[in-house]
Amino acid sequence: MGQGRSAPQTRQPGGRAMSHPIAIITGASRGLGRAIALDLASAGYGVALTARDAAALEAVAQDCTKAGAPVALTYPADLSQPGEPARVVDEVMKQTGRIDALVNNAGDTQRGDFLTLTDEQHLSGFALKYHATVRFCRAAWPHLEASKGAVVNISGIGAHTPEPEFTIGGPVNSAMINFSKAASKRPGAPRVNVVCPGHIETDRLSRRIEAYAEKHGLSREAAAEEMRAELGIAQFGQPGDISAMVRYLCSDQARYITGAVFTVDGGATPGI
Ligand SMILES: NC(=O)c1ccc[n+]([C@@H]2O[C@H](COP(=O)([O-])OP(=O)(O)OC[C@H]3O[C@@H](n4cnc5c(N)ncnc54)[C@H](OP(=O)(O)O)[C@@H]3O)[C@@H](O)[C@H]2O)c1
Repeated sequence: MGQGRSAPQTRQPGGRAMSHPIAIITGASRGLGRAIALDLASAGYGVALTARDAAALEAVAQDCTKAGAPVALTYPADLSQPGEPARVVDEVMKQTGRIDALVNNAGDTQRGDFLTLTDEQHLSGFALKYHATVRFCRAAWPHLEASKGAVVNISGIGAHTPEPEFTIGGPVNSAMINFSKAASKRPGAPRVNVVCPGHIETDRLSRRIEAYAEKHGLSREAAAEEMRAELGIAQFGQPGDISAMVRYLCSDQARYITGAVFTVDGGATPGI
């Protein structure tokens, strides 16, 4: 666990909490987490970034500092391990003295038919995305209550639209919503909201497009176009489409919004 080279500050003299708001972002080394970190940095948050890849986190920390973050700290951790979320929260509190926003974004569920997926794959999908979210909320809760802060949990449109090839991710995403709504109803709770991304261009979507291309004997471009047409969307989303929603939900403009679920999918979800 370390501190971003780009941001040498820690708690203020006398052990006082930092004067600017602090956001923890999980899965911040790339993809949506990186975009969320940059967006919150440009909104004036100090950022506490966590994922496994220490070098990638350092690079994101430097970019956050350039984007305006008053402090950018990194906490390399395998968040599927039960003790890690609390360890990260403790370390953030030691270094900054406050937590104002928590974005639970880390996730990596295996796609596939439930008849072929193993118990281990199911358990690891839940361990990283669902259990780490609960553990982060539990550890950060008193600090978020104190700051009247905000939690944003990143679920996914599979929460609402079950698919036979998404039998781990779908249930994990549904569980994220159920937990978030329940947590938001605790007396004195910070605001807790959920964002369900659709098909956003990150490494995760690239892997899907490449698998589709291989399965159907298509070029990457042709596979992407065929997938897009099958999904009935005009285009794939960009990480900034999700980070803008997260930034809004963390801001005071969203002060009356809690226990809510926001779909950002370019119209992919067929139901109402
Ligand atoms: N992209 C989409 O279209 C889409 C759609 C719906 C929902 N989502 C959800 O959005 C979230 C982010 O997706 P993404 O597309 O940005 O995925 P991504 O590009 O694959 O990034 C996943 C992030 O999670 C981190 N991570 C993976 N395993 C980890 C572990 N064991 N411990 C700590 N961190 C770990 C990765 O960092 P390290 O490898 O450095 O650990 C990385 O920062 C996920 O929860 C995903 O389910 C995405």
